[in-house]
Amino acid sequence: MSEGQVPLVLVSNRGPVTFDEHGETQRGSGGVVTALTGLASHRAAIWIASAMSEYDAKASAEHDERPFPVRSPSGDVEFRVRLVVSDPDAYDRFYNVVANPMLWFIQHYLWDLSNAPDIRREEIEAFDYGYNAVNEDLARAVVQELEDTEQPVVMIHDYHLYTLPELVRRARPDAFLHHFVHIPWTQSDSWRVLPTRIREEIFTGLLANDIVGFHTRSYQRNFLQCCRDLMDLDVDFQRGVVTAPGGEREVWVRAYPLPIDHKATRRISQRARVEQFEQELLRRRRDFLILRVDRADLSKNVLRGFSAFDLFLEQHPEFSERVTFLAQLMPSRTDVPQYAEYLEAIEALVAVVNHRHGTPDWMPIQLKLRDDLEEAMAAYKHYDVLLVNAMFDGMNLVAKEGPIVNEREGVSILSENTGAHEELGEYALSVNPFDIQELADAIYTALTMAPAEKRRRSDGLVEIVTSRDPGDWIDEQLADIRAKGRTR
Ligand code: G6P
Repeated sequence: MSEGQVPLVLVSNRGPVTFDEHGETQRGSGGVVTALTGLASHRAAIWIASAMSEYDAKASAEHDERPFPVRSPSGDVEFRVRLVVSDPDAYDRFYNVVANPMLWFIQHYLWDLSNAPDIRREEIEAFDYGYNAVNEDLARAVVQELEDTEQPVVMIHDYHLYTLPELVRRARPDAFLHHFVHIPWTQSDSWRVLPTRIREEIFTGLLANDIVGFHTRSYQRNFLQCCRDLMDLDVDFQRGVVTAPGGEREVWVRAYPLPIDHKATRRISQRARVEQFEQELLRRRRDFLILRVDRADLSKNVLRGFSAFDLFLEQHPEFSERVTFLAQLMPSRTDVPQYAEYLEAIEALVAVVNHRHGTPDWMPIQLKLRDDLEEAMAAYKHYDVLLVNAMFDGMNLVAKEGPIVNEREGVSILSENTGAHEELGEYALSVNPFDIQELADAIYTALTMAPAEKRRRSDGLVEIVTSRDPGDWIDEQLADIRAKGRTR
């Protein structure tokens, strides 16, 4: 295969843009879009994704449900996108019952197993007629886009599409299928909540790929162990290879840690609108700013973050009125009851902490519930402490974006259970995300750290984050695709 000419098809649930009622585009949120933006815009690729709203469906219909060019909202990138419309009821079951919460919770150890999940007919049918139906819709679109191409490469993304590869493989045995999972792969027992038949469909689907990629070696290892424990397959941990069911094909299982596009991130941080947010921020700033930026997701551990701040203020009253904790949280998946409840719990806890420690002219926690990249950039520039305390997180790109934009040699507090910790742990203050006292102590350590030590750490973070970019990430994967392609 010659890399430049290979027709490339990307497929993910969320696409790079979604349309609003005026036909204007907004950027899709989350790690997958960030990861693929560079790839899809720099190579002749078609990006197939689900239509997420009636406006996406309208845009798709206007283009006869085929690929069409679309500019990113900032206007600097162009994609060829095909948006696939599924039956709304099937999509609802796919997204709100199976992908989130069922799979997401399994893959972040979020189920409180003595209480949930209950597997009943509703969940089983949601898998059969929701998850699989949407996977079939997207697979059909992929197969159609592969017509007239020889030995195409398909890059499949994330946990929404585990059963799609087998469908594409059946239609196109010659295609090279590469699947990247952007979230953690948990240990075998966490998968045992799923009925065996469903679990096997997931593994069989994934093992129809030629390569399965993860952010870290630990997820790679867990996946291989699952293939052995749950599917009784031959696994070679050294080579990162599993023999697919049937015994004929080898699947490579690899780790490719995702870098951020540091140049693009810095460019965005220079925009005029970012500066407007900065002025507002600086006008209100106290001596110290603690920042977190996340989707309002249970895995991000927002509540323990506030509890730790509460404890810190109690144990260090000398910081009263001198520090603000700014939390910019994007509401996410709000049709899933657990997410809606989580948002309520966040607001309630913020009210409690602010009531307990606040004074007439100081609000300890400032909560911003919105998705605004430029507003987040402004805050990145001026934090003293960046808090990333996720319980479990596939990579966490905030941990990479913050340090390269920050202008105050701010300190990163980083959960040891994030993918980013494998790379950045040495220069961050590592925390166990469940240990609230440790986090409160880390806040104190960060706020009182000597300038030279702050500089050493922030320089270290910047150096690591800027040493690779998404082009390298793609090249590593394409090199493996070429190497494996030769062995088929
Ligand atoms: C994570 C997942 C992505 C997902 C994103 C946003 O980063 O790995 O696949 O797109 O969250 O979640 P959403 O449900 O809004 O697409």
